[in-house]
Amino acid sequence: MSTSSQPGQSKPLNFAHRGGRRWAPENTLSAFRKSVELGVDGIELDIHKCKSGELVVIHDDTVDRTTGGTGRVKDMTWDELSKLDAGSWYDKQFAGEKLPLLKEVLDLVNGKLTINVEIKNCPTLYAGIEDDLLAMLEKYPYPERIVISSFDHEVIHSIAGKSKKYKLALLGDSIIHDLPGYAKKVGAQCWNPDFDCVRPDSMKVAHDGGLEVNTWTVNKLEDWQHAKDLHVDTIITDDPEGLKTFLTDTATK
Ligand code: G3P
Ligand code: CA
Repeated sequence: MSTSSQPGQSKPLNFAHRGGRRWAPENTLSAFRKSVELGVDGIELDIHKCKSGELVVIHDDTVDRTTGGTGRVKDMTWDELSKLDAGSWYDKQFAGEKLPLLKEVLDLVNGKLTINVEIKNCPTLYAGIEDDLLAMLEKYPYPERIVISSFDHEVIHSIAGKSKKYKLALLGDSIIHDLPGYAKKVGAQCWNPDFDCVRPDSMKVAHDGGLEVNTWTVNKLEDWQHAKDLHVDTIITDDPEGLKTFLTDTATK
């Protein structure tokens, strides 16, 4: 994700997890708009495919937790999903917030920051979701500002065989044997591990193997410091505002 850095930007980069869950309902245009306004380096978001075929930005494979509705995204049409309130559960000031389409987020961001699109493909398998994503991204004029990640490494491998335009990232919460060899086989350039997997030895293996390390979800000051000390490339956080302050305060340290 280092391609997203601005001139003079120091590491680590600051990515808003689901748009920044501390300041707005996750994975909504309100959250992504705040990220653009604050000038973070990037946003992370999750996509699923609904019954009528659109790529919808939502974390869970059901709408139950983050909207007023109930049901599986794969069983609902965009017409049905677009009527749901995705803000009231978080705070009444966000009442009426809608689930966004990925296309709407691309239009909002329009190259102002990097977008880490996480393909959610477990437990629900969305056959061909990578082709839908690639078709949509083909029209986006900032390929260098896109990272595609997934816990489904088959889908990352599939994309690697179809396009070289985007950085690809292996999501995981384990230490992988011969990570560089594995990443090369899959076709990924980044390792996006749970912060628990970020250790001096795993960092060395990743960086020596030419991989970027983008870790999640890091929300505490002492963990930001630890991540910085270990030279991670990107911190993905629910609190991009707090992380920005921390990175500014410690810029020369
Ligand atoms: O992309 C990092 C992180 O978002 C993966 O976990 O469950 O928050 O999507 P989750
Ligand atoms: Ca995610």
